[in-house]
Amino acid sequence: MKNKEIRIHPTQKPVALYEWILSRYAKDGDIILDTHVGSASSLIACRNTNHKFVGFELDEYYYKLSKERLDRELAQMNLFDFMGGWWNEQNNSEHYEDK
Ligand SMILES: C[S@@+](CC[C@H](N)C(=O)[O-])C[C@H]1O[C@@H](n2cnc3c(N)ncnc32)[C@H](O)[C@@H]1O
Repeated sequence: MKNKEIRIHPTQKPVALYEWILSRYAKDGDIILDTHVGSASSLIACRNTNHKFVGFELDEYYYKLSKERLDRELAQMNLFDFMGGWWNEQNNSEHYEDK
């Protein structure tokens, strides 16, 4: 597991493992159902690979922790999307000027 992944669940899998699985077995447009979310690694991987998702977690404690983790990750990704959009706009302007 990458060091930057904070451990919140005793059987937490790496996000990269779920990304690998999704890249091989999920098709574009698939909606992924995880009935035992645990740490939310699977849901973060869904977002990273552009899959919609639905998740369930029975344990209130882990639900709260994983929801916080997911919200944090999604907020960070939205910021990167925003910065990416801004960067592309700048880049496109330069590109048009070059023509
Ligand atoms: C093995 S852990 C999942 C770990 C997860 N794959 C990960 O990478 O973090 C199983 C989780 O399922 C939850 N769980 C158990 N029974 C459940 C049920 N009937 N519905 C929803 N969640 C359940 C447990 O609380 C536990 O957090």
